[in-house]
Amino acid sequence: MRHRISFLLLTALAACTTAQPTTNAPAPGAAILATPIPAATPVVAAKAMVVSAHPEATRIGVEILQKGGNAYDAAVAVQFALAVALPVAGNIGGGGFLLYRGADGQEGALDFRETAPAAASRDMYLDAQGNVIPNLSTLGHLAAGVPGTVAGMWVLHQKLGKLPWKDVVQPAVDLAAKGLKLTEKEAAGLNNQHDTFARLNPGSAYLKAGSWAAGEVIQYPDLARTLGRIRDQGKAGFYEGPTADLLVAEMQRGKGIITRQDLLKYEPKWRTPLHGQYRGYEVLTFPPPSSGGVALLQMLQMLEPYNLGQAGWHSPQATHWITEAQRRVYADRATYLGDPDFGRVPVPQLLEKNYNKQRMATTLPYRATPSAQVTAGANLPGYESDQTTHYNVVDAQGNAVSCTTTLNGAYGSKVVVAGAGFLLNNEMDDFSSKPGTPNSYGLVGGAANAIAPGKRMLSSMTPAILTKGNKLALVTGTPGGSTIITSVLQSILNVVDYGMNAQQAVAARRLHHQWLPDQIDVEAGALLPAAQDTLQARGYKLSPRGGWGRVEVIRVLPDGKLEGGADPRGDDAAAGY
Ligand code: DON
Repeated sequence: MRHRISFLLLTALAACTTAQPTTNAPAPGAAILATPIPAATPVVAAKAMVVSAHPEATRIGVEILQKGGNAYDAAVAVQFALAVALPVAGNIGGGGFLLYRGADGQEGALDFRETAPAAASRDMYLDAQGNVIPNLSTLGHLAAGVPGTVAGMWVLHQKLGKLPWKDVVQPAVDLAAKGLKLTEKEAAGLNNQHDTFARLNPGSAYLKAGSWAAGEVIQYPDLARTLGRIRDQGKAGFYEGPTADLLVAEMQRGKGIITRQDLLKYEPKWRTPLHGQYRGYEVLTFPPPSSGGVALLQMLQMLEPYNLGQAGWHSPQATHWITEAQRRVYADRATYLGDPDFGRVPVPQLLEKNYNKQRMATTLPYRATPSAQVTAGANLPGYESDQTTHYNVVDAQGNAVSCTTTLNGAYGSKVVVAGAGFLLNNEMDDFSSKPGTPNSYGLVGGAANAIAPGKRMLSSMTPAILTKGNKLALVTGTPGGSTIITSVLQSILNVVDYGMNAQQAVAARRLHHQWLPDQIDVEAGALLPAAQDTLQARGYKLSPRGGWGRVEVIRVLPDGKLEGGADPRGDDAAAGY
């Protein structure tokens, strides 16, 4: 009891001396309801490290580094290896965002997001009454955007690679030809899709008469030949010649709209990374057409004045503050974010400190703000108007890569290009098919994210790299659809505010709020029962959620060693040397 009293006293004193807004001081006793931080042991390496969602991809990345490749060579090798080893999300038929920071401080953001085909149009997924036609933007040929991955890897390697292109693609060719053992999760994933694959891709390697079992070897001869063409001809091995012919033939078979011209015209884009600050760290992240970078920096700005560490991990008070920030940021996302090449995205205004401070000024001390009362911030000055995967690489020189890549849903559109052996994305669903109608992640949007030919669909992917005193500190990212942004946020808070190691930071149970629906999604074990009661009494609706992205983290330790956290929710692996 004595302990408790002095703790409360300290809490009260600290609340007066920190920058904490007085109206939002922790409720007395709030810290006592904090969820205990679970133990978890990270992988530690002296010089270099790869963390990815598949042990084979991680192994290949580390081998490339050991052969003298740099982080960019390893990233290309990991990307192609994941296209074989992790069909649920790894891809050559999808796209992604790659963020890097060189040991020399140079940085870049490579956007290899898919684009809408030339024949796409705003209302292409609506019926005559203007209603969204179920599944049209998620399943089958019409759901696919023009793939960006191979072009992205090609330009990355041209600019920053050290080893010959052939050497970094070859391991994936070997993996596809030799085959690899299915993990339990991968076998279950393929079995779940059996009927859909049978309907859409009768001859593909992903399909077999009975069910797949863990440990069974699966080989990909068509994919091996496609990867061989990419190895030999670079980007042209995908966007031209036999691979392009097979893709266009597949489109014709399934009434899709991607043409040869769409493939020839596809270009990845170098964009300027976004910068923000959080408690002495410099945060580097991805600009639009990612919504994630803007949202992450907004949330960090909103949260910096609050003493999250003192309130306690997943305490009602910390959860209250974090949820209110998330709610407001997702409301902004729905209104303002889209492809910057097709309309103005008010990034400077959204990242203006005072703007975010004002947004938080409407939070109530011990009460949830209903989402119905929260809209996007108005009058911005000067403004008119689940499966994905992530990998991180740090090489011995200190170059760092954080890359999130995706087919969008599990196995994307579920269409395998016959004869070429790769899955096509269903990224078109990330557009807003109809203003206000939620997509498969429950996200709503409007004109800024409407479909237009050649346009990139808005994304939540949030690769992020943190530095401190100009030195690399943390590399993070995750899949998870709309939960990507809040999961990346939590990985940062877990390390910076709660002192977790890399493995704890990825393993820690998560919470998520995205404005609409107005609820906190709760992973089992994320909140103590008493904390749940307090939050419910404050007006929060809590909703259990099962599906969470697999976060990957590399943290640089004070002695310069690297600490890897690979998400235990999947088959993910961290390794280094
Ligand atoms: O770009 C996006 O935001 C989505 N296509 C990401 C999808 C995703 O993370 C699914 N993974 N669990």
